[in-house]
Amino acid sequence: MRAILKTKAAVVGALMASTTMASAGDVEVLHWWTSGGEAAALNVLKQDLEGQGIGWTDMPVAGGGGEQAMTVLRARVTAGNAPTAVQGLGFDILDWGNQGALADLNEVAAKEGWDEVVPDALKAFAKVDGKWVSAPVNVHSTNWVWANKAVLDANGIGVPTNWEEFTAALDTLKAAGITPIAHGGQAWQEATVFDAIAMSVLGPDGYKAAFIDLDEGTLGSDAMKEAFDRMAVIRANVDDNFSGRDWNLATAMVINGEAGFQMMGDWAKGEFLNAGKVPGEDFLCFRFPGTTEQVTFNADQFMMFDQGGSVSTEQAALASAILSPSFQSAFNVVKGSVPARTDVSDADFDACGKQGMKDLAAAAASGNLFGSMAHGHAAPASVKNAIYDVVTAHFNGEYDSQTAVEELVDAVSIAK
Ligand code: GAL
Repeated sequence: MRAILKTKAAVVGALMASTTMASAGDVEVLHWWTSGGEAAALNVLKQDLEGQGIGWTDMPVAGGGGEQAMTVLRARVTAGNAPTAVQGLGFDILDWGNQGALADLNEVAAKEGWDEVVPDALKAFAKVDGKWVSAPVNVHSTNWVWANKAVLDANGIGVPTNWEEFTAALDTLKAAGITPIAHGGQAWQEATVFDAIAMSVLGPDGYKAAFIDLDEGTLGSDAMKEAFDRMAVIRANVDDNFSGRDWNLATAMVINGEAGFQMMGDWAKGEFLNAGKVPGEDFLCFRFPGTTEQVTFNADQFMMFDQGGSVSTEQAALASAILSPSFQSAFNVVKGSVPARTDVSDADFDACGKQGMKDLAAAAASGNLFGSMAHGHAAPASVKNAIYDVVTAHFNGEYDSQTAVEELVDAVSIAK
C-alpha cells in the first residue's frame, strides 16, 4: 500500500514537473540516481554537459532499481510528453525501442565507432533492428558483498570463500551483537540477493536455464529449493527493521559498523566513497562466495526518446558525452560501476573498480557473463516482476522453500 501511495505521489509530482519542461537547448533527464553516491556520479554528467552549453532539467524519481521511475515514464509517454533522456535497463529499453518510442542514434554511433568498443552483451540491449536507441553509461554487477573491515577484523573474520565460511561469519557477528547483514526489505533488493545466491547454488548453466531460458525443470529443481533455503538463512541474519529500508541506508549500516555485510550491486561502492571510505582500508568488496568467476551484470543506459523528427542536437550531444572515454572513466570511478567501453584504462579506478573490470573481461571471455535477473537483463519485466513476488513472499515468511519453488514455476509460466 505504502509503495502504491509513494508511486502515485511520484507520478503526480512528475506530471506537475512536466509543465515546467526543458526548453530548447536543454535536456530533461529522468533517472533514479538520488542517493549520495549516485548524485555525485550524476554531477559528473551534468557538469560535462554544462561545459558544452547544454542545460539540464533534472527529473529524479527516487527508488532503487527504477520501478517508480518506470511508472512515471509510462505516465509521461501516455501524456504525450516523454522526457528527452531516460535512465533504462535491459529489456525495458528493448520494449520502448520495439514500440518505436526511441530516437535513432546511428549517426553519432557511427561517427564515434560505438560498434567497435561497446561489448556485445551491452549492444544486445542498446540496439533494436540494427539501430542504436540508447547510450550505455556503465556496467554494474550484482554478485558483490560489501563488508566493514574493522568489524571483520575485530571479530577475526576473513573474506569467506564458500557458503559454510560465510554462514560461520554471520554466526560470529550475531553472537557479537552486530547485525550480520544490512538489508533493505524491498522486492528488488531481495531479488538482488537472490541473483547471487541462485548463481552460487545453480551454477552458471543453471542460472541461465532458470532466469534467461525460463526452463521449468530448473525453476522447479531441488537446487532452486536449496537457493530458497539459503535465502531463509539470509533472512535470519538481518535486523528487525529491515522492512522497506532503502538500499543506501542499508549500506550506511555497513559504513558505520552497525552491520558486517551487505549483498548489493557495486552502486554500493559509490556510497562508501561518498562517505570518504577507502577500499581495502575501511571496507572490503568481494564476489559472493561461489560466484568468483561469474558476473551478473546490470548496465545503465540513457534511452533517447523520440521528440518528433530526428534525434535532437542536445540528445546527440548527451549520447556523445556519455560514450566519451574520459567521461566513462570519470563517471564510473565515482559511481562504483565499470566502463561500458572495452578500451578505457583502469588507471583511475580503485582496487574494487580494477577487480570489477578484470572480472567483467574474464567472465565475458569464459562464457560466465549473464544478465541480472533482478535488474531486468535476464527476462522481460513481466517475468522479472513475477519472480520478485515469489522471492519477496518467501523472504517475508509467506512461503516455505518448497512452496516458493512451486509458486516460482507457476508465476513464470503465467508471466512469460
Ligand atoms: C540500479 C541501477 C544502479 C543503481 C541502483 C540503485 O537499477 O542500475 O545504477 O543506481 O539501481 O538505485
